[in-house]
Amino acid sequence: MRTALITGGSSGIGYAMSRRFARGGYKLLWVALDQNELIKAKAALQTEFNQAQVEILAIDLSKAESAQAVYDWVTSNGWSVDTLVNNAGFGTYGYVSDIPVEREVAMIRTNVEATYRLTRLFLDDMLKRDAGTIIQIASNSAFQPVARMNTYAATKAFVYQFSRALQEELRLRKSKVRCLTVCPSAISDTAFKSANGLDGVRTFKGLATTTAEEVADDVWNAYTSGRDFIVTGARMRFLFGMRRLIPYGLQQWLVRRETATT
Ligand SMILES: NC(=O)c1ccc[n+]([C@@H]2O[C@H](COP(=O)([O-])OP(=O)(O)OC[C@H]3O[C@@H](n4cnc5c(N)ncnc54)[C@H](OP(=O)(O)O)[C@@H]3O)[C@@H](O)[C@H]2O)c1
Repeated sequence: MRTALITGGSSGIGYAMSRRFARGGYKLLWVALDQNELIKAKAALQTEFNQAQVEILAIDLSKAESAQAVYDWVTSNGWSVDTLVNNAGFGTYGYVSDIPVEREVAMIRTNVEATYRLTRLFLDDMLKRDAGTIIQIASNSAFQPVARMNTYAATKAFVYQFSRALQEELRLRKSKVRCLTVCPSAISDTAFKSANGLDGVRTFKGLATTTAEEVADDVWNAYTSGRDFIVTGARMRFLFGMRRLIPYGLQQWLVRRETATT
């Protein structure tokens, strides 16, 4: 049975993507912070897909040792990961000097370090088998500086650059392993916005707002058709296509407008 390890699989787009993988007959390995949420989400998924196999691990990915602990959990159970989805992450909002340093460091560790470490750990096994896919959840905030979501956007710029270059390296070494980079725009219906103090920020009812279902459909279609990069949501894809025509000043005006509170 094919197996997908999805970090943050019990919530938001992680859960929406899990529904596609469950429908596709995959066994799911979920890693997230909150044990109760993991148990509840597992029950909900198995109510919808009664054959779904779901294994759960509650762990804080902002801790440096957690990625290795996830890898050890997988290998000590004899599982092999066909598809790794690095999805767990969170954001901060406000002027950088107003945000507690430790909160941003925890975000950098979760969004960047855990993504990097998990990629390295599972990539080695995939390269040995010459098979597997890594799906990296970046963001449209990776494409330009984002005042008031400064450090968050920088973490996603890392994920974007690292993952797209990894795909180029895989191509260069003629590997069958694939890396799919995903850049969603603001998602209106996940916990992300409330959990990160973003309620009332215009982008969640903005130019290119999307939903968890739309993101999951776009990711699944990109994954099953062998693509290596996807901007999710038709309106965001249009804006992304236009971005080279938009001067920096106008781009930043749009970003300021989108990240303002209403
Ligand atoms: N929402 C948006 O507008 C948006 C736009 C672009 C990209 N993204 C990206 O999409 C991904 C998923 O976000 P979402 O919108 O689906 O939000 P979400 O519903 O809040 O999901 C985030 C998931 O990450 C897990 N997580 C967060 N911090 C963690 C930690 N320290 N250790 C382990 N797990 C942790 C959460 O676990 P618990 O539930 O157990 O806390 C949750 O399962 C994130 O990487 C986010 O940056 C979101």
